[in-house]
Amino acid sequence: MSTHGKIKTTDIDYGPERKKEKNAVKIQDLSLRDGHQSLFATRGRTEDMIPVAEMMDEVGFWATETWGGATFDTMHRFLNEDPWERIRTLKKYMKKTPFSMLLRAQNLVGYRNYADDVAEAFVERAAENGMDVFRTFDALNDYRNFETVVPIIKKCGKHFQGCICYTLTEPRLGGEVYNLDYYVKKAKDLEDMGADTICVKDMAGLIAPYDAYEIIKALKDSVKPPIHLHSHFTSGMAQMSHLKAIEAGVDIIDTCMAPYAFRTSHPAIEPLVMALLGTNRDTGFDIKLLAAISEKLEKEVMPKYRYLLDDTKMSIIDINVLLHQTPGGMLSNLVNQLRDMDALDRIDEVYAELPRVRRDLGQVPLVTPTSQIVGVQTVMNVLNDTPGERYKMITDQVKGLCYGLYGKTAVPINEEVQKKALKGYERGEEPITCRPAEVLAPEMETAKKEIGDLAKDLDDLILYAIYPVTGRKFLQWKYGKAPVPEEVKPRSLEQALADEEMVRKARKGLLIEKVEKDSPEKGPGVRSFNVFVDDEYFEVDVEEVGGAPVVTSVVPSSAPAAPPRPAARTAAAKPAPAAAPAVDGTALTAPMPGMITALEKNVGDVVKEGESVLVLEAMKMQNALPAPVSGTIKAINFAVGDSVSKGEVLCVIG
Ligand code: CO
Repeated sequence: MSTHGKIKTTDIDYGPERKKEKNAVKIQDLSLRDGHQSLFATRGRTEDMIPVAEMMDEVGFWATETWGGATFDTMHRFLNEDPWERIRTLKKYMKKTPFSMLLRAQNLVGYRNYADDVAEAFVERAAENGMDVFRTFDALNDYRNFETVVPIIKKCGKHFQGCICYTLTEPRLGGEVYNLDYYVKKAKDLEDMGADTICVKDMAGLIAPYDAYEIIKALKDSVKPPIHLHSHFTSGMAQMSHLKAIEAGVDIIDTCMAPYAFRTSHPAIEPLVMALLGTNRDTGFDIKLLAAISEKLEKEVMPKYRYLLDDTKMSIIDINVLLHQTPGGMLSNLVNQLRDMDALDRIDEVYAELPRVRRDLGQVPLVTPTSQIVGVQTVMNVLNDTPGERYKMITDQVKGLCYGLYGKTAVPINEEVQKKALKGYERGEEPITCRPAEVLAPEMETAKKEIGDLAKDLDDLILYAIYPVTGRKFLQWKYGKAPVPEEVKPRSLEQALADEEMVRKARKGLLIEKVEKDSPEKGPGVRSFNVFVDDEYFEVDVEEVGGAPVVTSVVPSSAPAAPPRPAARTAAAKPAPAAAPAVDGTALTAPMPGMITALEKNVGDVVKEGESVLVLEAMKMQNALPAPVSGTIKAINFAVGDSVSKGEVLCVIG
């Protein structure tokens, strides 16, 4: 079949009068979800989607992806936005185009398998709030994890799109695991489950153009549902793969508006529309309308987010992804975490360790949450392993994966690693083989008891059930029970433009540098003061210039209390190590920056060496931190929900 037919360029109209071809390629726009998730760490705010929402509704997209993936987490955690509200708000502006979301099957919009009651409630509420297409995937392509959500999607009368996560073990399609037969078999499984459409989900941009052709052709020949291709631009191949997929008869393609496109995101819509112009797959889209949307985004929205772009490199493609197969989001997470740990120089070791860890863990596809699980364990191995011992520190999630909590891996997990991971594991040392959620107790009732009246409706309760620690914080902000921190508030366009102007001036050398002054030697008259501003603490030394100090002694009005730990680190506040009360004993320090999500011991408890004391969430993984020695807990310096830096003393055992 030829895709171009007869082209008479003089007859082609760019505008809305051009006819859409009968077999036009259908387009799903991803700008409002995967676009900003890939480029700006999912920080896009609803208020910045509204300016283009009505225009985008006019384009004629098959669907627009507005929700799911990391949006749910990021919105409540970093943007102080109610994720449910986004769907309802955008629906007011986009009445014609169906909304789609990325659903991590039994993982929903989180990083683990949730119990069936949470999964059912979540899908029902998403449908009720306005979601139309449920793009459903499982990180292990284990479709037993679809068994709970799919019947609910169908019951709500919504569209079930089944995904096959595209991954490789070889440079190209083939090999023993991820070959053409594998993908055809998976597509047949999805058809049997009642998939309305089937998506090849190429999250890392690994699909090569000729492999895309092979796969799409094979799927078109073997299953009935329309075939959809989702391919990230990361490696630079996606536009070529799109074209070959179109030649093979693909039905739907994913793209982004130009400002949200390329890099680790997706190809832009505009060149695809132009490439298909006048062919028998012509989208019929109004290119002038697309240009107007992109211009509005450039001028009114992008200035607010440009600072989040990775501007450390010139190249917009990442050839390494073809070697280490890391999806873009995971890659930027790894780099950020290594930077936080002052270990960015070890990135090459991480790249080398990654395929080994992946093989040990059953050659899993790398997509949320397996990308985080493999990624974080890789970092742990690089930072903690010794020549004599591998997997010295194993995350709870790796233990879960070894236990079977995520499902069945493509090939068996390395037995030695599995044994080590499951030694003393709370659920048991023998791995399960059933559908993972079967071993999970219902969670909604417990969640309801825990959160109480702070959850005003089912949407609040689900948010809390999926994200207990940050969800509770968010609900406190939402209902005015706690002040909203500055860092989660939006920035205005004016502020963003002013900041950019400042950077431009600095680059041109137009900003006058502050002259550095050497501080004089401290004299004998110096006096130290503890200064408390709200909940921040400073230690200030005061000495009168050229004379005896006016203040000769300071008597505190009462015995000095232990100064409160600074709640948020500002550039001005020295993180006063003196703030933590000195207690004799052995310190348990944070091996990496993160957030305390659970305290398993209290002050006064007796612990054995190796027993877990508290849980530190780092890079979205829960790490139970073991006691370095046996003894009694003398002090715990942090509470649940606190963020800690690497090396901070979390607890003292004496
Ligand atoms: Co994606």
